[in-house]
Amino acid sequence: MQKKIRNICCIGAGYVGGPTMAVIAKYCEDIQVNVVDISIERIKEWNNPDTSKIPIYEPGLSEIIESVRGKNLHFSTDLEENISSADMIFISVNTPTKTKGKGSGKASDLKWVEASARQIAKFSKGQTIVVEKSTLPVKTAQTIKEILESYKYLDTNSPRTFEVLSNPEFLAEGSAINDLENPDRVLIGGNCKKAITCLEEIYLNWVSKEKIIKTNLWSSELSKLTANAFLSQRISSINSISALCEATGADIKEVSKAVGMDRRIGNKFLNSGPGFGGSCFKKDILNLIYICDHYGLKETSSYWEKVIEINDWQQKRIIDVVLDKLFGTITGKTIAILGFAFKANTNDTRESPAIKICEELIIEGAKLKIFDPKVNEIDIENCLYQLKSSPKSVIQSSFEVSNSISNAISDCDGIIVVTDWIQFSEINWVNHIASVRLPCWIFDTRSIINSKLAKESGFKIWTLGSSS
Ligand code: UDX
Ligand code: UDX
Repeated sequence: MQKKIRNICCIGAGYVGGPTMAVIAKYCEDIQVNVVDISIERIKEWNNPDTSKIPIYEPGLSEIIESVRGKNLHFSTDLEENISSADMIFISVNTPTKTKGKGSGKASDLKWVEASARQIAKFSKGQTIVVEKSTLPVKTAQTIKEILESYKYLDTNSPRTFEVLSNPEFLAEGSAINDLENPDRVLIGGNCKKAITCLEEIYLNWVSKEKIIKTNLWSSELSKLTANAFLSQRISSINSISALCEATGADIKEVSKAVGMDRRIGNKFLNSGPGFGGSCFKKDILNLIYICDHYGLKETSSYWEKVIEINDWQQKRIIDVVLDKLFGTITGKTIAILGFAFKANTNDTRESPAIKICEELIIEGAKLKIFDPKVNEIDIENCLYQLKSSPKSVIQSSFEVSNSISNAISDCDGIIVVTDWIQFSEINWVNHIASVRLPCWIFDTRSIINSKLAKESGFKIWTLGSSS
């Protein structure tokens, strides 16, 4: 199997599939890239003539869509046509944690991956390279292969062959385009050298050869899970020390800087905060735990369990501080929530720490005013309405979505900075002190506000990881 790739299909037009295919289309003008999705609504949004309204906010993405959409990048719901014309098919569907049955709460639910494999098996023609883009448990390639192989001889008039590759995506949301255009490495796992070369040739259009690593399938799948586990472990490590800083008088920013300047440790991913969110970290660690348990590696799985425990604890202890500072009760008090996305520069709210924080505040009887520069009202409502800890009517009457920082802050007793949006570091607190109820506390969980100015303006400040 070695041929020139002319037609790519990607199943799944999400946070990974969309930006990844846009960048491939940008650098490979002679390849037609077709992104398909079962969601008619999502595809409609990707095809919106106004590229500022595409479903994903990601710096630099709209510009690429503007330049390649309709030329060699297309968004469609027609799976059959796009699969049958593809030489290479990326599977980029979501793989949520199972909510019932065996492995519930830990294992990844692979039903969408399996469904994609069946569709490929049914509609593909000739030689097809199938690429796992989604983060998947080790050995998923085997499942995909078995499904593909079982359909292989169905239509004897058009013999078909499949090769499965693992090519996990390491992009982080908010910096997806930069990560895709300047990756630290590209990882291709597989058993067929020719298929690997076909995929490598695509990346060589903009990535240098030294950065392309080739491994066996299982190493590739496990490397992605391990990378996410290590990154989350760093966050839990620094967050655990942030509590110690508050207790002792050390300052987490100073400690992070001093520790990170050791080149063996490095200075990235050492920002303490309200715990990691996003669609990957928690899911992937849970998955790792599940796999370790499956292989009887109890010590390994309990080691990784701790990373999640610290993350949950970090959010809980922020709520405890809020309660403590607001005289032990927040019933009927108004709290401004600044930021709802799980991190800055994205409109993604999956596993956002803001959700847990809002949930606990609602249980305590607070009224919330939520502002995020990019997350829309419907997404915030959807996140909060699915909480089970309070009746829907209570949730409904416990929050409102504000259209500006000023609106969110006015009349409040406390302000929690949850997301690290740059706008929040630029707030001129002098302008807001007259509109709040005094004493008004700012809880800066990201250590980003101008706390000197806020203090001078009359606010009371709690900064995560600092005792002052
Ligand atoms: C990411 C990563 O790809 C994956 O590694 C991780 O495991 C979960 O999250 P992401 O792109 O962020 O995926 O997910 P999402 O934005 O939910 O997009 C998935 C898309 O696949 C959705 O648009 C969904 O409609 C689509 N889909 C799902 C299909 O087109 N077909 C299916 O059968 C199932
Ligand atoms: C992550 C991985 O970085 C990426 O390689 C993988 O492909 C998908 O999962 P993502 O979840 O998009 O990417 O964002 P990331 O920047 O890793 O942030 C994850 C969470 O950790 C966010 O909630 C962020 O606020 C938090 N974080 C990150 C910290 O609290 N402190 C840090 O120092 C860094």
